[in-house]
Amino acid sequence: MPLISPKEMFAAAYAGGYAIGAFNVNNMEIIQGIMGAASEEKSPVILQVSAGARKYAGQPYIMKLVEAALAVDASVPVAVHLDHGPSFEMCRECIDGGFTSVMIDGSHLPYEENIALTKQVVDYARPRGVWVEAELGKLAGIEEHVQSDEHVYTDPDEAVDFVERTGCDSLAIAIGTSHGAYKFKGEPKLDFERLEAICRKLPDYPLVLHGASSVPQEFVDLCNQYGGNVGGARGVPEDMLRRAAGMGVCKINVDTDIRLAVTACIRQYLAEHPEEFDPRSYLKPAREAVRQMVAHKIRTVMGSSGKA
Ligand code: G3H
Ligand code: 13P
Ligand code: ZN
Repeated sequence: MPLISPKEMFAAAYAGGYAIGAFNVNNMEIIQGIMGAASEEKSPVILQVSAGARKYAGQPYIMKLVEAALAVDASVPVAVHLDHGPSFEMCRECIDGGFTSVMIDGSHLPYEENIALTKQVVDYARPRGVWVEAELGKLAGIEEHVQSDEHVYTDPDEAVDFVERTGCDSLAIAIGTSHGAYKFKGEPKLDFERLEAICRKLPDYPLVLHGASSVPQEFVDLCNQYGGNVGGARGVPEDMLRRAAGMGVCKINVDTDIRLAVTACIRQYLAEHPEEFDPRSYLKPAREAVRQMVAHKIRTVMGSSGKA
């Protein structure tokens, strides 16, 4: 199966009350771990590439790795997506380079400028059959080039106006999630009333949840046990994500949990095998941890097992 647009994935997810996991990829082991999980769970999957990942690995490397993954096992539908595209130019490069989906992130811009930039990307992407995700509202924390101390939750009426005027295919909304490992100071809370209002005003329209890592305690503990310092980290509880997946959220973004799994395993391995210096020895358990963690998410958070 070649790379596909998220279009059909989202239509089925919306109708079925589940979500597609969008996992950030940066290297071969992470891609292998995610693809192993998707394949085992028979689930569609989105591999997403940030501007930072493009800079780290280089777009041709990432695309060839994805190509290799499909050559080895083409049993599940896969989309490749630009995460938090900062400019029209980067979106164009990704569209021209074979991505099947791009995000243009104008969430930090004044409303009318976000509309103009998003529309520019939609006008380029649509004739080329590429999906466009946009963002309205601001997540607290750091979003690539966007830093915000406070959440600016998405206004439901503005969301309707934004979608109508830009023609974007899906919309990332702010309802209380944030990027990174420190999402909540007190009790985790998402604004489900707001999500319901957005979903009601935009029927049959796919919404996207960024900042959706759950920050599994086992990985935080492993990191800390083996010399790390990630105290106080807290993510979005899995049952909240599952609930959102039944309310118009068709794409759930996960990066931090992959980072935690990889780092926890490498820390543990190196601490327990101080004589070891072959990178394969510690990358292998890290890759396996990504596979198991992503498979768990597909099953219990996304609800997309068996939907390939
Ligand atoms: O939302 C941002 C993603 O976690 C990507 O992070 O820019 O460090 O690759 P990155
Ligand atoms: P997390 O930091 O919660 O994994 O969010 C990732 C994300 O939204 C990527 O766009
Ligand atoms: Zn994000």
